Amino acid sequence: MARRFSVLAIAVSTAVAASAGAAFADEALENALKARKGQFQLLAFNVGVLGGMARGNAEYDAAQAQVAAENIQAIAALNQAAFWPEGSDSMSIDGTRAMPVIWDNFDDFASKWQAVAAAAEGLPAAVGAGVAGIGPALGPIGGTCKDCHDTYRAPRN
Ligand code: HEC
Repeated sequence: MARRFSVLAIAVSTAVAASAGAAFADEALENALKARKGQFQLLAFNVGVLGGMARGNAEYDAAQAQVAAENIQAIAALNQAAFWPEGSDSMSIDGTRAMPVIWDNFDDFASKWQAVAAAAEGLPAAVGAGVAGIGPALGPIGGTCKDCHDTYRAPRN
């Protein structure tokens, strides 16, 4: 009887540990998703500030334009490693458009991220020099977004 009880106790505690582990893993993936989407929202916001000035939807302000450009540089400099854990692709979990192929070509994916930083190198000076400088400086940045999205982001469903 005592033995039976202890076997049962072990079985129960193992099941509890396993479900706690799964919940922890789910939460870790969920947090990574939030973090990487948050950085993309920040990127899009700052690109939008510059785009609005370039299109004449917002008044040109050299200081604000430079701040947006510096923000883009800062976001592009974030190390991506922790934001893309294995198992956080669109075939494995809901709520993400990250294609599984990212994890087959992670070096290429990382180099496409680095391309944003490279394209943003002269951005603060270019957008600070006048509204006419924004469009030509922003174009190549938009190209780096598109280049990665075309390869690694699944279409909206
Ligand atoms: C290295 C690849 C890569 C680059 C470069 C990149 N993106 Fe993305 N982007 C992705 C992937 C992958 C997703 C999908 C993320 C997910 O759903 O988990 C995404 C998602 C997004 C989203 C949606 C975020 C959300 O809340 O769901 C926005 C907005 C976005 N990107 C904007 C940009 C902008 C603007 C740039 C350029 C300045 C950019 N991205 C550059 C790969 C990239």
